[in-house]
Amino acid sequence: MPLNQQQGYSNMEASYSNQAFNSSAWLEKEQKRSRRSKWIVIGTVLAIVVLVAVGIAVGVTVGKSHSSSSTKSSSSSSSSSAVNQTDPNDPSTFEKDSRLIKSFWGIAYTPEGSQYPDCGNKLEDVITDIQLLSQLTDQIRLYGADCNQTALVLEAIKQTKVNMTVWLGNYPIPTDPAPYERQRDAMIDAIKTYGTDHISGITVGNEYILNWLNANGATDPNSAIGNTGAQMLLTNITDTRNAVTALNLGKTIPIGTADAGSYFNTELLQNVDFGMSNIHAWFANVSIDQAAGWVNEFFQETNVALATSLTNQPKMYIAETGWPTASKDVGNESNGPSTATEPNLQTFLDTFVCQANNNGTGYFFFEYFDETWKDAQFGGVEGHWGLFYSNRTLKDITIPTC
Ligand SMILES: *[C@@H]1O[C@H](CO)[C@@H](O)[C@H](O)[C@H]1NC(C)=O
Ligand SMILES: *[C@@H]1O[C@H](CO)[C@@H](O)[C@H](O)[C@H]1NC(C)=O
Ligand SMILES: *[C@@H]1O[C@H](CO)[C@@H](O)[C@H](O)[C@H]1NC(C)=O
Ligand SMILES: *[C@@H]1O[C@H](CO)[C@@H](O)[C@H](O)[C@H]1NC(C)=O
Ligand SMILES: *[C@@H]1O[C@H](CO)[C@@H](O)[C@H](O)[C@H]1NC(C)=O
Ligand SMILES: *[C@@H]1O[C@H](CO)[C@@H](O)[C@H](O)[C@H]1NC(C)=O
Ligand SMILES: *[C@@H]1O[C@H](CO)[C@@H](O)[C@H](O)[C@H]1NC(C)=O
Ligand SMILES: *[C@@H]1O[C@H](CO)[C@@H](O)[C@H](O)[C@H]1NC(C)=O
Repeated sequence: MPLNQQQGYSNMEASYSNQAFNSSAWLEKEQKRSRRSKWIVIGTVLAIVVLVAVGIAVGVTVGKSHSSSSTKSSSSSSSSSAVNQTDPNDPSTFEKDSRLIKSFWGIAYTPEGSQYPDCGNKLEDVITDIQLLSQLTDQIRLYGADCNQTALVLEAIKQTKVNMTVWLGNYPIPTDPAPYERQRDAMIDAIKTYGTDHISGITVGNEYILNWLNANGATDPNSAIGNTGAQMLLTNITDTRNAVTALNLGKTIPIGTADAGSYFNTELLQNVDFGMSNIHAWFANVSIDQAAGWVNEFFQETNVALATSLTNQPKMYIAETGWPTASKDVGNESNGPSTATEPNLQTFLDTFVCQANNNGTGYFFFEYFDETWKDAQFGGVEGHWGLFYSNRTLKDITIPTC
C-alpha cells in the first residue's frame, strides 16, 4: 500500500503528541541526556520531516490514482522575464544578477511540472532555473527522474554552458516496482545522451526507509521491518549499479540514498557510497537562533558518527536543510518558537551557509523555489521553502558572501 497523505499527517500528529521535545529545553538538557535517549527523542521529532519530501512521493501515488482530478496547479509563471539574454537564441548569453552570489555548496531542485503522470515541465523553464541556480552554486540535487527531468536538466546545463554538476535521483515506491524501473530507464537514457561530465552521483531512494516504516507501523530503522525495507531498496540500488556499470563509462559514479535524519538503516548504509540526510530545525521546533547550530550538531552526532563507525565509510551529506518563509494558513505559520518569515530565512542563511562551507559540510540548501503543487496539496509551510518565489523572483533576502 503506497504511503498516502493521511499517513503522512497521522505520523506528524503522533510526533506532535510527544511533548517531551522543546528546543530550548533540549539544548539545555542535552548534555545530561545519554546519546541513546537523545537519539530516540530526536528520532521521534524528526519523523515530522517526512512531510517535506513525502510530498513528492505522494505526488506520485496520489497523482496515479486521480490523474484526471489533480489538484496540482500548473500555474506556470512565465519565466521569460526572470533572466535576460543578450542573444535570445543562446541561453549561454544570460545576464548575471548582482544579487546572486555563488555561496552555496549545493541546492535542492525539482523542476516545475515533474510530478508523474501530470508532468508538463518545459525546457525553457529549466534553462531559466539553471541560469539562476548557476549563479548560486556549482551543484544541484534532483529527487526523481520522472517526466524527463534528468534529460531536461542536462540539456539546460549544456545550452547554458555553466559549471554545474547534478546528483541525479530515483524516487522508488516500496510497494510498486514500476516507478523505480521507469526512472532508471529515463536516467540511463539521459546518461547515454549526455555523458557523465555533469553528473556527481546517483541517489536511489528518498525517505524510503521512513516511508516503509510508517506504512508498516514501525519506527526503528534497524528493526526487522527496517532491515526488510533496506534489503528491498538495496535490490534497486544494486540494479542501478549494474545498469551504470554496463554503460562502460570509464568513470565510477557514486551511488547512495537519501533519508530523514534519524532513519538510516545500518545495513543499507554499509552498502552505499554515500548517505544524504534531511535535517530540518523547523520541524523539530528549534528556534531560528539555534537552528544552524542544531542542524550541524544533529548531522555530526547522528549521521556522521554512524557513517564513521562503518567499514565502508560512506560519505555523508545534508540532503535538505532550510527555513520556510510563509504558511498557507495562520495556524501553521509558527513552529512553536519561530515563525515562517523571510527575515528568519535570512537569519538561517546568515548563520548556516558560510559556516557549513567552512566546516567542510556538504549540504543542499532546501530549496531553489517555492513549489505551488505542494502548497495546493499539503498546505502549511510545505510550498514555501524557496530562495525564490514560484515565479522565480528572488525573495526579500540577501545572499551571504562567504
Ligand atoms: C531585463 O531587461 C529589461 C529591459 O532592459 C529590464 O526592464 C528587466 O528588469 C530585465 N530583467 C532582469 C531580470 O534583469
Ligand atoms: C566548477 O565547479 C566545481 C565544483 O563542482 C569546482 O570545484 C570548480 O572550481 C568550478 N570551476 C570553476 C571554473 O568555477
Ligand atoms: C527529454 O528532454 C530532452 C532534452 O530537452 C529532449 O531532447 C527529449 O526529446 C525529451 N524526451 C522526451 C521523451 O520528452
Ligand atoms: C526494486 O525494488 C522493488 C521493491 O521495492 C522490487 O519489487 C523490484 O523488483 C526492484 N526492481 C529492480 C529492478 O531492482
Ligand atoms: C561549524 O563548526 C562550529 C565549530 O564546531 C560549530 O560551532 C558550528 O555550529 C558549525 N556550523 C555549521 C553551520 O556547521
Ligand atoms: C511544535 O510546535 C507546534 C506548534 O506550536 C506544536 O503544536 C507541537 O506540539 C510542537 N511539537 C513538538 C514536538 O514540540
Ligand atoms: C496545519 O495545522 C493543522 C491544525 O493545527 C494541522 O492539522 C495540519 O496538519 C497542519 N498542516 C500542515 C501542512 O502542517
Ligand atoms: C512574484 O511573486 C511574488 C510573491 O507572490 C510577488 O510579490 C512578486 O510581485 C512577483 N513578481 C513578479 C515579477 O510577478
